[in-house]
This record gives sequence, structure tokens and C-alpha cells, in this order.
Amino acid sequence: MDSKQRVKLSDGHFIPALGYGTYKPEEVPKSKTLEGTKLAIDAGFRHIDTAYTYQVEEEVGTVIKNKIAEGIVKREDIFLTSKLWCTSHRSEMVKPSLENSLRKLGLDYVDLYLIHYPVAMKPGEDLFPTDEKGKSLLDTTDILATWEAMEKCKDAGLTKSIGVSNFNRRQLEMILNKPGLKYKPVCNQVECHPYFNQSKLLDFCKSKDIILVAFGALGTQRDKKWMDLSFPVLLEDPVLCAIAKKHNRSPALIALRYQVQRGVVVLAQSFKEKNIKENVQVFEFQLTPEDMKAIDALDRNLRYLPAKFTEGHPECPYADEY
Ligand SMILES: NC(=O)c1ccc[n+]([C@@H]2O[C@H](COP(=O)([O-])OP(=O)(O)OC[C@H]3O[C@@H](n4cnc5c(N)ncnc54)[C@H](OP(=O)(O)O)[C@@H]3O)[C@@H](O)[C@H]2O)c1
Repeated sequence: MDSKQRVKLSDGHFIPALGYGTYKPEEVPKSKTLEGTKLAIDAGFRHIDTAYTYQVEEEVGTVIKNKIAEGIVKREDIFLTSKLWCTSHRSEMVKPSLENSLRKLGLDYVDLYLIHYPVAMKPGEDLFPTDEKGKSLLDTTDILATWEAMEKCKDAGLTKSIGVSNFNRRQLEMILNKPGLKYKPVCNQVECHPYFNQSKLLDFCKSKDIILVAFGALGTQRDKKWMDLSFPVLLEDPVLCAIAKKHNRSPALIALRYQVQRGVVVLAQSFKEKNIKENVQVFEFQLTPEDMKAIDALDRNLRYLPAKFTEGHPECPYADEY
């Protein structure tokens, strides 16, 4: 892969600057994940983002193994991310959780393992344990102990790199300032798009050599389980559409290119062949400094995915400004 399309992580590994997202709403059948992931690898995606809680690790792993068997890719060509779910933060649960993900994937390692959220919930089968009033059942664990267990997963060779997701600045600092820290997080995967551009968190991450990975970069899948559907549709934004027209590209490509040009690794999800093939064109054109400025000005602090299940947790990441 062209070196321009990869970003160096602080631990020396490289992450492709564009990744394929595999979250799917509950009502979408898993066959769509098989189809989409296959189309993504065929189109040239080499970075795939999944998570235990998406419940598609088996499908993602099947596609990767098939593509390896067909001789299309080697395992080392693929950069695969998975994530530790909130119900497995207790330090003794971290390695078994990654081993369980690897069993589902049918692979011996992932490239990147992330703490999905900085909040711990009651361990058990239920991914979103709640009380009778629908309030999340929380767990009190020490995030630094969870991080130490993540470090052990890297040392055991179960993951090449370790990082975090949905952490705010204070929570990143907690890890960075941990006495005896062995590995710092290589990335922080957060919601990031022109309506929520995370410029302060991005500046902080850059100052600490932490890569910011953007999810929801196309305005999310607008899953009613997770977002208020009255929020404006990002890809219909008039400024994005005008810049798209000028470059003879789609608003989606402009939103992806915006992230690449500001040094953000960007995820893009799609189930459609046409869109998947289009999204890899992000490396074929450039936005001007004026375009970048105009897109920066679209920021309106609009978080599409407020992760309401984290509300009330002492480590709810969205309680701080950034
Ligand atoms: N760490 C976390 O907490 C977290 C949270 C959310 C997501 N994520 C990760 O980030 C990934 C991406 O985020 P996301 O799934 O929220 O969605 P997204 O990538 O922001 O947007 C996906 C939507 O954009 C549409 N789309 C894609 N390419 C397009 C194109 N070229 N033109 C027009 N529309 C296009 C897709 O529709 P079509 O299918 O019609 O193309 C889909 O509805 C997830 O899949 C997941 O891996 C992580």
C-alpha cells in the first residue's frame, strides 16, 4: 500500500488512513456484513474496524480468512481493530475477552484492541445491563488496571497495538500519567465530522502523538436506537455539497478527505458497492486551504451519538468540554 495512505502509530506500527466500519443496526441481517466486508476488501480497504459488541466478528473474520485463502491478501496486509466492551473492564476479564473475540474472528491476533468506552458496566451476558427503570447498571473498576491488562494483551502478542475510544482529554491524561505506564494508547477513536470536528481534542492528541480515529465521519448510519433522527443530515449540508460540486466528487468524499487532510484516520461504513468503491477515492484529490477552512466553520458541537447508556457514570466521557 502507498505510504501516503498509512499513518505511523507511536509504537512503530502503521494504520491505514481509511478504514471500513462494521457496525450494523440490529434490524440489518449479518449477511450484509459478509457482503459489505467482502466488497470493501475487493475495493482496496485494508483497515477494518469492528468490536465485540457489534456481534459481527464471526462474519468479519470469515471474510478476511476467505480473502487470505483466495490469495487476495495476506494477514499482514489487513489492519483489524476490535474493542473491549464495557461489561469486561475488570482486569481479569480483559485477556479472556480479547481471546473470545479472536475465537469468533478465527484469527490469532488483531492489529489494534481498544477500550470501547471509559465506562464500566455490570459484567454478564447482557451487553447493556439495566435496572427495572432502564438505568444502566454500572461497575466500579479502575481504568488504570484495565489499561495494565490491555498492556499484557500486547505483550502476549494477541494484539499488535492498544488504544482507546470515546475518551476525553482528562481520561487520556489519566492513562498518560499512570505510574509505570508501559505503552501509551496509540489512538483515541471518537465521533468526528464537520458538525463535530473535535478540534480541541485533535490538537491535544497530536501534542501527545496519539492518532485520532474518526467514526461517524459521514454523519453516522442514523440508527434510531442511538440518535435523534431530527438532527440534520450531514451529507446534505449546502457547504459540503457546494465543495463537492466544485471538485466533481460526492459530499461523502469531501467529508472523508477533510479528515485525511487534518491528520485524522477516518472510518467509513457502507453496505453499497457503489459507495464502498467511491470511498477509496479519498486519496485521489485534494481540498484547498479555503475548502478546509469552510468545512472547519461548519462545526456546531453536534454529537449525533451521545451514548446515553454512559450517562450518570462517574467516567461518562461527555461530561467534560472535550
Ligand atoms: N468507537 C465507537 O464508539 C464507534 C461508534 C460508532 C461507530 N464506530 C465505528 O465507525 C464506523 C463508521 O461509523 P458509522 O457506522 O456510524 O457510519 P458513517 O461511516 O459515518 O456513515 C455511514 C453511512 O454513510 C453512508 N455512506 C457511505 N458511503 C457513502 C457515499 N460514498 N455516499 C453516500 N453515502 C454514503 C452509508 O449508507 P450506504 O450503506 O447507503 O452507503 C451509511 O448509512 C462504524 O461502522 C464502526 O465501525 C465506532
